[in-house]
Amino acid sequence: MEKQFEGSDAADRASVAGRLTPGAIVRFLDQYVVGQDEAKKILAVAMYSHLRRPASDASVEIAKSNVLIVGPTGTGKTLLCETLARAVEVPFATADATSLAQSRYVNEEIEAVLLRLLERAGGDLARAQRGVVFIDEVDKLKARDGEPRAVSGESVQHALLKIMEGAPVKLPDGRYLDTAGILFICGGAFVGLEKITATTHTFGFISTAQGDNQQILDRLNARIKPTDLFAFGLIPEFTGRLPVIARFSPLGRDLLVRIMIEPRNSIYRQFRARLLQEGVELRIEHRVFEQIAELAIEYGVGARSLRGIFEEMIAPVLYAVPERPEVRRVVIGSLFEEPRLLPAG
Ligand SMILES: Nc1ncnc2c1ncn2[C@@H]1O[C@H](COP(=O)(O)OP(=O)(O)O)[C@@H](O)[C@H]1O
Ligand SMILES: [Mg+2]
Repeated sequence: MEKQFEGSDAADRASVAGRLTPGAIVRFLDQYVVGQDEAKKILAVAMYSHLRRPASDASVEIAKSNVLIVGPTGTGKTLLCETLARAVEVPFATADATSLAQSRYVNEEIEAVLLRLLERAGGDLARAQRGVVFIDEVDKLKARDGEPRAVSGESVQHALLKIMEGAPVKLPDGRYLDTAGILFICGGAFVGLEKITATTHTFGFISTAQGDNQQILDRLNARIKPTDLFAFGLIPEFTGRLPVIARFSPLGRDLLVRIMIEPRNSIYRQFRARLLQEGVELRIEHRVFEQIAELAIEYGVGARSLRGIFEEMIAPVLYAVPERPEVRRVVIGSLFEEPRLLPAG
């Protein structure tokens, strides 16, 4: 993966740790992830609860609330999970459900994920057992008839269930890693789920009385129900282990523009810093970001295509500047015009 977290956020993290609240986690996330406010809150609460879970000898056993993230590609699902793990400094490992489904040795692959978690915990078993595992693309595990592959998605769901239910897993060194305290976050685009949810709306179910908050009613009616996930192809036991659902929205033009500009490590900031190394000031007009965002929307992969379009635009500048010591400023006024290379003043 590309390195995208330049600089240190240790100071901010410390302040989060100073008084860790869901709000503090969200404020940390806000520095890197644009929009998705509802999902941020849901995940911050899940993480907060995860960290506050009492040891198992407590009088009330608090069940774990694993999270299912649903949203289109390139809307920040993976980014948000990675940022979440950094915000609270828990060991974090990711797995890709698609590659699990393509492997002949699913259990070994899953074990490898837990070993990565242990590695991230610096070998500390106790820390690893309170870590977070993010399993991406679980929508690709949907049950299908006549599965031609070695392992069907459904059997991967069963294999994952075991660790999500809290089974101890034997490690190569003979120790056991107890998965009961690990927070699992599963993500996927779930293309087609919207249609299922739309056809299963039960507006009569929620009685409306005057004074009911319409926004809350709308939210309840738009909920993804477990039955929708069964219809999509997840097995009931698997969805049963993912009681919390966070939805990510498609990114519109304005959010895409903000993504290029606002995050602490935004593309714009990165390239401004890059050119500053050459003693050159980079200025890009707002309209250029809107043009890039509009192109990105056409490509239909969320924020994923922003960087490529941006890099293509900036490449000639990065080529020319080192050849031309007199250039002190670069101004880009439109995606469809040559960048202007200017001397000082
Ligand atoms: N909401 C967002 N805020 C900031 N950057 C984003 C956002 N969504 C996507 N990106 C950018 O797009 C890239 C791909 O996003 P990612 O989180 O991998 O998408 P997915 O939802 O498919 O997991 C990220 O690395 C980031 O640069
Ligand atoms: Mg992803």
